Amino acid sequence: MNVRIYKDAQAIGTAAAALFAAQVIDKPNCVLGLATGSTPIPTYKKMAEMYREGAVDFSGVTTFNLDEYVGLDHDHDQSYYYFMMENLFKHINVPHDRIHVLSGTAADVEAECGHYEDKIKAAGGIDLQILGIGRNGHIAFNEPAADFAPATHIVELTESTIEANKRFFASADDVPRRALTMGIGSIMKARSIVIIATGSDKAEAVRDMVKGPISPSCPASILQAHPDTVVMVDEAAGALL
Ligand code: F6R
Repeated sequence: MNVRIYKDAQAIGTAAAALFAAQVIDKPNCVLGLATGSTPIPTYKKMAEMYREGAVDFSGVTTFNLDEYVGLDHDHDQSYYYFMMENLFKHINVPHDRIHVLSGTAADVEAECGHYEDKIKAAGGIDLQILGIGRNGHIAFNEPAADFAPATHIVELTESTIEANKRFFASADDVPRRALTMGIGSIMKARSIVIIATGSDKAEAVRDMVKGPISPSCPASILQAHPDTVVMVDEAAGALL
């Protein structure tokens, strides 16, 4: 793991967007793995800015998002598809048919998980994956568990994740209880990974990810075994390193 500490969220956004730009310039038909949440927003803003300035052309790029709530369709303003549209895809030129977000309203969500793995494989695998980290060490919706999940699957969200995500819904009762998520195995297949974290409430999870034993009780700790992972944290999130 290559750990880098930055002054603040803005500096991380600039650095992570530069990694994406380098990837797209190096391989214009690359496959990007994307995340939702608050942490990547400055990165996506910077990517949009680079596109507007003509520095990066996303027209050959394919994207796969990590996860989606079960039961929210793409038009729901809390769906991850909607989030991606608002925060990134509306502002850059990735062709619509190359954008992939799991469908939480598929008639057969189990089959949707299998199809998603097939589509990633058919696209040639993910070149660069961006991740955030949960306060409990989760990556995507892979919560602390007894084992690392190999592939895309359905999860029951933990109380801590429901609690963390309720800020986006009218109440905790409105947060969906299930989600579809790429597995740890799917994430580990990405050729390069950048995981970003900001704020003191992530400090313990960042410490366990970087310094703790590799254990499914901190799903992000598996990244210690990945050959090309960059950890970008601000001073608060990196305080316990
Ligand atoms: C989102 C995702 C989640 C978030 C994590 C951190 O697609 O996969 O694992 O990355 O919950 O969320 P924020 O960035 O909101 O703190």
